[in-house]
Amino acid sequence: MQDVILEIKNLHVNYRTDTDLVYAINGLNLTVRKGQILGLVGETGAGKTTTALSILRLLQKDIGYIDKGEIYYNGQNLTKASEKDMEALRGNYISMIFQDPMSSLNPILTVGEQIEEVLKLHRTGMSKKDIEETVENLMRMVSISPQRKKEYPHQFSGGMKQRIVIAIALACEPDLLLADEPTTALDVTIQAQVLELMGELQKKLNTAMILITHDLGVVAEICDTVAVMYAGEIIENGTVEDIFEGDRHHPYTVGLFGSIPDLHSKKKRLEPIPGMMPDPTKLYEGCRFAARCKHCMDICKASMPAAAEYGAHMIRCFLFQQP
Ligand SMILES: Nc1ncnc2c1ncn2[C@@H]1O[C@H](COP(=O)(O)OP(=O)(O)O)[C@@H](O)[C@H]1O
Ligand SMILES: [Mg+2]
Repeated sequence: MQDVILEIKNLHVNYRTDTDLVYAINGLNLTVRKGQILGLVGETGAGKTTTALSILRLLQKDIGYIDKGEIYYNGQNLTKASEKDMEALRGNYISMIFQDPMSSLNPILTVGEQIEEVLKLHRTGMSKKDIEETVENLMRMVSISPQRKKEYPHQFSGGMKQRIVIAIALACEPDLLLADEPTTALDVTIQAQVLELMGELQKKLNTAMILITHDLGVVAEICDTVAVMYAGEIIENGTVEDIFEGDRHHPYTVGLFGSIPDLHSKKKRLEPIPGMMPDPTKLYEGCRFAARCKHCMDICKASMPAAAEYGAHMIRCFLFQQP
C-alpha cells in the first residue's frame, strides 16, 4: 500500500552466545504507515529492542543477525541493502532514540557540536551560517536555550540530555523515528514532558514513529496503533481503540493490561501474569504463551495459531480461530 512506510515480514533474528543460539525474534510481522505512531509493548525480553536494532541493522556484530524475513522501508528491502545505503538512511531518514541518553551523547563534545555533526553528515550543501541557525532552532524546538550550545552533556539534567538527543534525532527531519523507551531513565515528572514534546514534534514534522514503552497510559494518549509483543512475535495488534476498548483480546494482552493499575476502575492490586517467558534458546511447536495461559487447550501446545483478523485488529490465538 502506498502510505506504508515500514513493513516487516516474517522476521527471524538470532543471537549467538558462547553456549547457545538465542531465538529473539520468531516470525514477526509489522506495518507502520506514514505519519503514524505505533506503540510497541510487551514485557522485558520480548524482543522490542532487537526489532528496532534490526530495522537499522545495528545488531551487535558477529552476535546478532537476521536469519530470515524482510524489512521494507518505502519499498526498499533493508535486509539486502548495502552498508553504504544503511549509513545514508541512518539519522537522515530513520533515527533512533535509545533508553539512556548518555549512550547516544558524546561526553567530550558540546551539545551544539553534536547536533551540528548530523547536519554536516547528511546535509552537505548547508552553509556554516545555515547550520548554526538550524542548530539554534532545534534547541529552541526542544525548549533549551540556544545560548547553552557551547556546554557539554554533563552540564545538563537527565531530562534536558534526552531532549538534546531528540533534537539530534529530529535534526534531519526523519520519516521514521524509533524511540526505545525514551523516557524510562528519566524522573517521573520529566517523563510526561518529554513524551508530550515528542508527540508535538511528531505531529509538526509528520514523522512516523515506533514508540517502545512500558507506559500504557502514554500509549493510550499518543499512539494510533498498538502491537503487543510476546517472545519474539506480535500476538495482537490493532488501533488504540481495538486494544483498549475492544472485547476480543489475546490472553497475554489481558494479563499485561490487567497488571497495570487502572485509575478509573479503582483496582488496587497488580495482577502479574504467573510464570515466565519461555526459554528463548529453544524452538517451540505451539503457542509460546501456552505454558502461562489459563485458557490453554491441547492444540495450543501442538501448533502455532494463525492470525485471526477482524478488520485491522489481529489476534494470534486459538480462542479466536474460526472453525
Ligand atoms: N547481545 C545479546 N546477546 C544474546 N542475547 C541477547 C542479546 N540482546 C538481547 N538478547 C536476548 O534477546 C531477547 C530479546 O531481547 P530484547 O530485544 O532486548 O527485548 P526487550 O527490548 O523487549 O526487553 C532476550 O531473550 C534477550 O535476552
Ligand atoms: Mg529493550
